[in-house]
Amino acid sequence: MFIRRRRGWEMPESAVTPEALVFGRRTALKAAGLASIGLPGLARAADFPAAARNARYEPGRAITAEREATTYNNFYEFGTDKGIYRPAQKLPLSPWTVKVDGLVDRPREFSVEDLTKAMPVEERVYRLRCVEAWSMVVPWTGFPLSALLSAVGVQAGAKYVRFETAALPAVMPGLRQSWYPWPYVEGCTIEEAGNDLSFLVVGAYGKPLLAQNGGPIRFHQPWKYGFKAGKSLTRISLVAERPKSFWEAIQPQEYGFWANINPEVPHPRWSQASERVLGTGERVPTQLFNGYGEFVAGLYGNLQRERLWT
Ligand code: MTE
Repeated sequence: MFIRRRRGWEMPESAVTPEALVFGRRTALKAAGLASIGLPGLARAADFPAAARNARYEPGRAITAEREATTYNNFYEFGTDKGIYRPAQKLPLSPWTVKVDGLVDRPREFSVEDLTKAMPVEERVYRLRCVEAWSMVVPWTGFPLSALLSAVGVQAGAKYVRFETAALPAVMPGLRQSWYPWPYVEGCTIEEAGNDLSFLVVGAYGKPLLAQNGGPIRFHQPWKYGFKAGKSLTRISLVAERPKSFWEAIQPQEYGFWANINPEVPHPRWSQASERVLGTGERVPTQLFNGYGEFVAGLYGNLQRERLWT
């Protein structure tokens, strides 16, 4: 097991949780292949809130097996194959801060622990549809982006939210691929950010979010292709200009700003009509807005001239 020297501000885990519970948890973590997460990782698990599930967004599909969702991932900073959960374990998840800045009244750097305590944390079971035509259903723990935006106060000139994610060359071998425009950046409009479905995620399957899923904090808008969901966020900025995202910078004909899910608009190289459901061997029809149209279609009424579906 990875042992490291404790810094002054870190509580010994015995001060947080009774010893028997710590050992019980450690056994459980070991079973999940996480025994090497070290003392900060155990403290994250001990502090993690039990969040009530929001019944408003029932997915209408079975939850994907945790093992599938945590071992089949896209996270190019760690490599281009789906097995990046191994190298991703090197990402130090605690302490971690997110800067919220730009056109806000009270710019601030938040620790993920503080956010988890201060924000209205709940569980939401959301579908995730990757642009590569696979999908999964995950119980995420998190809070609406709108709650964070209210806390910092959005100024009138803010039209977009820009998300920037971690770029740590010491632990992210993918950053050596210098033809990619690191860091990974994503964005949405202020109206999309204010939609209740826009969710900042700090956990999955009732546990703190693992590195491979974008721990300790990521974004998710379930009606958009998964690449819009920046992982391991370090900065959230309110801006006046539309941010250029990572994939848009690489291949603008294939990956646009909006990236709303639509089975009738194929990717230039493949159909988007159906999707492979991870862990089931099933292929099911893809739904417009990934099935979330009743909550989000109204956002796009005046935007018919935009390329909403790529
Ligand atoms: N965020 C970062 N920083 N780097 C990435 O490569 N890949 C995106 C998105 N967020 C990616 C990222 C893509 S393409 C998808 S489909 C989802 O993360 C996958 O999330 P998951 O691995 O938790 O399923």
